[in-house]
Amino acid sequence: MPDPAGEIAARIGDWRARTDAALQRALDTAAGGEPRLDAAMRHAVLLGGKRMRPLLVHATAAAFGATPAQADAPAVAIELVHAYSLVHDDLPAMDDDALRRGQPTVHVAFDEATAILAGDALQTLAFSVLAEAPLAAETRLAMVARLASASGALGMCGGQAIDLAATGGGGARDISGLERLHALKTGALLRAAVALGALAADVDAATRARLDEFATALGLAFQIRDDLLDIEGDSATLGKTAGKDVAQDKATFPALIGADASRARLSELASRMREALAPFGDAAAPLAELGRQAIERDH
Ligand code: IPE
Ligand code: IPE
Ligand code: MG
Ligand code: MG
Ligand code: MG
Repeated sequence: MPDPAGEIAARIGDWRARTDAALQRALDTAAGGEPRLDAAMRHAVLLGGKRMRPLLVHATAAAFGATPAQADAPAVAIELVHAYSLVHDDLPAMDDDALRRGQPTVHVAFDEATAILAGDALQTLAFSVLAEAPLAAETRLAMVARLASASGALGMCGGQAIDLAATGGGGARDISGLERLHALKTGALLRAAVALGALAADVDAATRARLDEFATALGLAFQIRDDLLDIEGDSATLGKTAGKDVAQDKATFPALIGADASRARLSELASRMREALAPFGDAAAPLAELGRQAIERDH
């Protein structure tokens, strides 16, 4: 009997295993320098994580006919940037967190200077991986440009700066300000994941635009779910410290509009994701499943 759900889960499992192996190989290429820095980079990347961004790269690439091998480099690169963003997000100067992916954060397990350098080195490794990918030169260049803009001052870093400015009652306390914060700090990399998959498969502009509608909805939903889990989850399940957003007076959806309205927002975003993917049919089933997980995840 056909078992579409089981088949999708198996494909996602294969992409996860592929990503973990490719991350390991990428870290091996960066080894041989200072052992403490190498150990901190491995701690940040290899000890857990849902791998949502690389899975989105693979699911998008596969939906439009690219091979897994064509998606490996962008999948690794975006997870390396994400891992670096988490190391820096947890630093005392930022969210000051001691637990990440069920482990001590990098600055706790090592020290603050090592955590800063590990983040820096993971970021540059991401771009080395893309620059050296076995892909056409123009594809590599487009991927470097896309990942760089999503990571920088008008992407993730910009969002983190707005987040910090809003912490403790600063700005971004109206819905459009908060949407912008979330779109940048979290949405930018999730959108880039889908865009990198689309570049690997060389899709047309109309398909790219539709995929970006899906990814934009997913990005906002992913952070609203993160905000809800911070108040509703427990640290053991989350693998990170629960209850920190209220304690630090962070700008979040539940803080601004309440938990019920935040959940209603998630349902709307789930519909937007479904509508965006509808024309792609069964080919986009793994992407739809990742969208569902973004909203229903418990960690
Ligand atoms: C956590 O990201 C930070 C946010 C952008 C919300 P993830 O929830 O994807 O963290 P990992 O990679 O699974 O640890
Ligand atoms: C972090 O948002 C987004 C990043 C760019 C890392 P959060 O600060 O809410 O992420 P968590 O809850 O620490 O994972
Ligand atoms: Mg933060
Ligand atoms: Mg944080
Ligand atoms: Mg959070």
